[in-house]
Amino acid sequence: MIPVTKPFLPPRSTYIAYVEDIYNRVWLTNDGPLVRELESAVPRHLKSREMAFVSNGTLALQLALRALEVQGEVITTPFSYIATTTSIIWENCNPKFVDIEEDGFNIDPTKIEAAITEHTAAILATHCFGLACDIQEIQNIAERHNLVVIYDAAHCFGTTYQGQSIFNFGDVSTCSFHATKLFHTVEGGGVFMDETTRKKVSLLRNFGHNGPERFQGIGINGKNSEFHAAMGLSVLPHMKAILDQRERINSRYFELLSGNEGVTLVDPQTEGWNWAYCPVVFQSEEACSSVKENLENNGVSPRRYFYPSLEVLHGQFDEHCPNSRKTASRILCMPSFHELRMTEIDRICTIISNTLDS
Ligand SMILES: Cc1ncc(COP(=O)(O)O)c(C=O)c1O
Repeated sequence: MIPVTKPFLPPRSTYIAYVEDIYNRVWLTNDGPLVRELESAVPRHLKSREMAFVSNGTLALQLALRALEVQGEVITTPFSYIATTTSIIWENCNPKFVDIEEDGFNIDPTKIEAAITEHTAAILATHCFGLACDIQEIQNIAERHNLVVIYDAAHCFGTTYQGQSIFNFGDVSTCSFHATKLFHTVEGGGVFMDETTRKKVSLLRNFGHNGPERFQGIGINGKNSEFHAAMGLSVLPHMKAILDQRERINSRYFELLSGNEGVTLVDPQTEGWNWAYCPVVFQSEEACSSVKENLENNGVSPRRYFYPSLEVLHGQFDEHCPNSRKTASRILCMPSFHELRMTEIDRICTIISNTLDS
């Protein structure tokens, strides 16, 4: 079976060398030296602002909402992984759904202002599939209405906007370092922010400790371990090769499929994109289902993003978000991972084209 994605594992010897050090130090977690090293290596690699390494991308979102003291309504889109919305609800805020653009996957800025009420506190927008939102316009709206902006940049390792790391935008940007992401620490997440917010996040992710026997407010355990940091430090040197390969993969799909009227693909030349996923939108739900079935019958496993989330949230946004529903019913993400061979992409594209032509 060709899976939709496959985690990258760095050379065993690199990881084991880090593990040897961990064994020698017997410092396994709690702000250890490898966690600190990762927290400086990632921003250096990306030329981004500061980063706090936390347990996962979901907790990164929750910590962002907490640190920025967001309460009330939070504008977001239903076209994202369910963690975006559940984080808002988990933090006792109310998600207010705004639709995505008709010909894209991100929040439609022209529809945001109509959703703002006296209770709106923040905009939490996802840069879906590693493609940047209209950050400039969202910032303008936030400034006009005095709103906090958080970006769920879970898919965005390596994405740039206006020539700099996308993690530099918004009051906070968060990333997921889950094993299925471009850059990973097995489980993990990053919170990118300025120094003031960083101090709050550091307290919050460590139970609120501001000394061995002192606490400042209520925190949570959002720390991550030396073993996870070691994986990140082992993967980081391979990021350029991983991104280059993703570009080649997306370019191949584009070359073979974009001439077909039945499908829409993202142009791999899209400025700043990290090619994290290969989303293909079909003209109808029937075409999408037939392609999925034929691929699966031939040992290929594409994925419907973000289908279950939308089902769970169904009813809350249906009337207001027709584009989200329409896109969710017609989209498949094609296999995309470092080891995927060009001949496998050719076979996948032949199956897609034959299905659409039949
Ligand atoms: C858009 C988005 N936000 C948040 C998350 C949550 O990240 P994690 O799995 O690291 O908790 C994911 C995970 O896939 C995601 O795709």
